[in-house]
Amino acid sequence: MKAYIFSLAPVTQQNHENEMQFPYNIRFLMSFWNLLNFRNSGSQSVAAQADLARGAYLADALGHCAECHSPRNLTMGVDSSKYLGGGAVDGWTAFNLSSSKSSGLGGWTTDELAQYLKTGNVPGKAQAAGPMAEVVENSTSHLSDEDLHALATFIKAVPGQASDGPDRFSFAGHPTDITDYRADAGRHAGEGEQLFIAACATCHMLSGSGVKDGAYPSLFHNSVTGAANADNLVMAVLHGVERRGSINDASMPAFEDEFDDNQVASLVNYVKDTFGNPQGKVNAEDVHRLRVNLVAPSPVDSLMKVGGGIAAAVAIIIAFAAFLWFRRARTGRPRSHYNALRIPFPGWPSAGEGGARAAVRAIGGHRAAKVHARPLPQNKARN
Ligand code: HEC
Ligand code: HEC
Repeated sequence: MKAYIFSLAPVTQQNHENEMQFPYNIRFLMSFWNLLNFRNSGSQSVAAQADLARGAYLADALGHCAECHSPRNLTMGVDSSKYLGGGAVDGWTAFNLSSSKSSGLGGWTTDELAQYLKTGNVPGKAQAAGPMAEVVENSTSHLSDEDLHALATFIKAVPGQASDGPDRFSFAGHPTDITDYRADAGRHAGEGEQLFIAACATCHMLSGSGVKDGAYPSLFHNSVTGAANADNLVMAVLHGVERRGSINDASMPAFEDEFDDNQVASLVNYVKDTFGNPQGKVNAEDVHRLRVNLVAPSPVDSLMKVGGGIAAAVAIIIAFAAFLWFRRARTGRPRSHYNALRIPFPGWPSAGEGGARAAVRAIGGHRAAKVHARPLPQNKARN
C-alpha cells in the first residue's frame, strides 16, 4: 500500500473548512465519545478462528459494515450488543445482516451473499440501491473472489439478532393476472395501481415478476417490498437506482420530480399490498420526511445543543469577569464600568440625565467623556 500511495503524483489541494455544526466542531469532545464507544479490540474474539479472521477484518476494519447495519446507542456509537442487527442511514434502512432466519440473512447461502457483494443483485432476494449501491460500486465489487468468500463466511457466522417483522424474502405477492386483467375491461384501477402500470410495469412487469435474468428484478421475494417498513421502497421510487459494476450496471429512473408525496404514497402502498409485506404503509407526510431527508434528531443531539450553549455562556461570563477583574486591577478604580453598561445601579442618587451625571460624579467621574448624553431609562418606581 505504501509503495502504491508513494507512486501517486503530488496534488496541491486546499483543505476543506470544518463544516461540522456547533458543538460537534469542538474536537476534544470526541475523546469523551471515544471513551464511551470506541473499543480498540478490533475483531480479536473472531480472529481466533483463522478462516473467519480475514472476513472479520474486511467487514470491520475495511468495510465498516456495522456502521450502517447496526443500531446506535444513545451517544450515537454502534451498539455492539446488536452487531449487524440492522440500522438506518440517510433515510434508508440498512437491513439486519445477522444470521436470524426471520429477520436477517439466515436464508441466504454464502455464495448468494458473495454474489450480492460482487454484483449488487441476487434475483429473488435483494438489489443494492442508495448507500449500498455505493458500497458495492466503489468497494466490494473490487474484492477478489477469496476475499468475497471470506467476508460472506464471516457475515454468515454472525449470531442471529431478531428484529422487526416476518422474513422479508418470503412474500410471494398476489399480483393481478394479466389475462384476467385484459378480460375485465371495465375494471377500475385505483390511483396506486394506475401509477404502477404507468411508471413501473414496463420494467418490472404488471405481475411484478421482473425479467428472467433479474436485470429488472422481481418485486416479490424482494427484501425492499418485503420489509416491515416502506422506507427503502419510497427511497428507491424517489431516487431510483444507479450502480456501476465491472459485470453489470443497474439503472432505474428516479421519480422524485414526476410524483408528489400523495402519489408516491399511493403507489408504494399498492406495491406493498400487491407484491410484498402489507405492513408499514406510508402517507404523504412519511414520503415528505424521506424526500427532504428529515432524520429524527437523537436526544443527545438536543442535549449537546443545550449543554454546548450553557458551556459557551459560562465561558463568556468567565471571560468577561476576567476582563473586568483585569481592568479593575489595572486602573485601580472600582465600579467605573457601570457607566458603559447603562445599568441604573441601586445606590445611585436618581435616574435621568442628572442622575447619570451625579452617579458618574459619585463614582469618580473619571470617564465622563464616555457617559452617554441620552438620559437613562426612567425609573418608574422612583418617580
Ligand atoms: C453506508 C452504509 C452502508 C454500509 C457501509 C454497508 N451497507 Fe449494506 N446496506 C446498506 C443499505 C442502505 C442497504 C439497503 C439497500 C437497498 O435496500 O437497496 C444495505 C443492504 C445490504 C444487504 C442486503 C440485505 C437485504 O436484506 O436486502 C447486504 C447483504 C449488505 N448490505 C451487506 C453489507 C456488507 C457485507 C457491508 C460491509 C462490507 C455493508 N453492507 C456495508 C447500507 C450500508
Ligand atoms: C427502466 C426500468 C425501470 C422502471 C421504469 C422501474 N424500475 Fe425499479 N428497478 C429497475 C432496475 C434496473 C433495478 C435495479 C436492479 C439491480 O439492482 O440490479 C430496479 C430496482 C427496483 C427495486 C429494488 C430496489 C432496492 O432498493 O433494492 C424496487 C423496489 C423497484 N425497482 C420498484 C420500482 C417501482 C415501484 C417502479 C415504478 C415507480 C419502478 N421500480 C420502475 C428498473 C426499473
